[in-house]
Amino acid sequence: MATIATETGSSYAAVLGVGSYRPSRVIPNADIVDAIDSSDEWIQQRSGIRQRRFANAEETVQMMSVAAARKAIDRAGIAPEQIDCVIVATVTHLLQTPAIATAIAYELGTDQAAAFDISAACAGFCHGLALADQMVRGGASRYSLVIGVERLSDLTDMEDRGTAFIFADGAGAAIVGPSDSPGIGPVVWGSDGEQFDLIRQKEDWRDIVAMERPVLPYLTMQGNPVFRWASFTMAKVAQQALDKAGIAPDDLDVFVPHQANMRIIDAMARAMKLPERVAIARDIADQGNTSAASIPLALDRMIDEGQAKSGDIALLIAFGAGLAYAAQVITVP
Ligand code: UT7
Repeated sequence: MATIATETGSSYAAVLGVGSYRPSRVIPNADIVDAIDSSDEWIQQRSGIRQRRFANAEETVQMMSVAAARKAIDRAGIAPEQIDCVIVATVTHLLQTPAIATAIAYELGTDQAAAFDISAACAGFCHGLALADQMVRGGASRYSLVIGVERLSDLTDMEDRGTAFIFADGAGAAIVGPSDSPGIGPVVWGSDGEQFDLIRQKEDWRDIVAMERPVLPYLTMQGNPVFRWASFTMAKVAQQALDKAGIAPDDLDVFVPHQANMRIIDAMARAMKLPERVAIARDIADQGNTSAASIPLALDRMIDEGQAKSGDIALLIAFGAGLAYAAQVITVP
């Protein structure tokens, strides 16, 4: 009987380059508070956010993705034609089909790369990274581009007290490719669909079409239960990712958690007893919560500002709607 041939890839995979794009409109809390009967003080105290960035009309999901990707490609030192797979994590590409990844792959000048979108909300980038790692080692891809991108301002009701001050826009990207040594540790990922409704679009497209005055499918969030879930559960997941990678907290240089809320970031760092010298991403203060884009945006900033150096060991953890989560250890490119 005939047997099917299989393939294997590189022994190890690594992140070879990171890039990001921050939209041009800076929106301070003062511009948000009136519509939701809030205050700059409340927002800073409860979330750590001082300002966020919103995209303008030209800063589309595709435009921001391409800009972030070009920086990552440049940093990785490869040509766009070498990319054979493009994975885009987003919940704000408003065409259900086709995937925006194909248009991005084309605009970047890849040679007909495999291209698809994934929907894992704020956990999307780390899901994409896990897929790319497996594909490079499994042989399905040699150089994968992973993008996390959101234009959450399109899906945020600016009169909703629970979300208007949190969500923001931006894009981040990473090139994953072959490496001589392990650069991406085992992923720890999972979901808790019992809490499916805690962060979700209010209506699906059919409900919207049936509306007397249709609106975009805004996001809604029961913030406090999500806050408690993230603060208590995610530190354990992060610890598991360290354990699986064989990395002790003392070996860690950089911690890049999803930029959801400064208090969650602090609670996780405390629960994990991270040594003082570990650099912790705190991009949320200036950038808001950009869902799938938050980790690559924060990591790229730390690299640019010298807080994360080439060869450093970094722990990434992402979590959000679903509820879905994913964490892994990487070497900073
Ligand atoms: O990215 C995906 C994952 N998302 C997250 O991880 C987000 C997790 N959740 C959070 O970050 C927090 O829950 C929020 C920042 C969204 C809210 O903070 P909180 O400490 O959980 O506030 P709360 O909802 O428990 O509300 C506390 C108080 C309430 O008043 P009382 O009942 O104590 O008098 C609210 O009515 O704050 C009031 N409140 C507000 N006040 C001013 C709620 N929203 C606002 C507001 N401005 N926007």
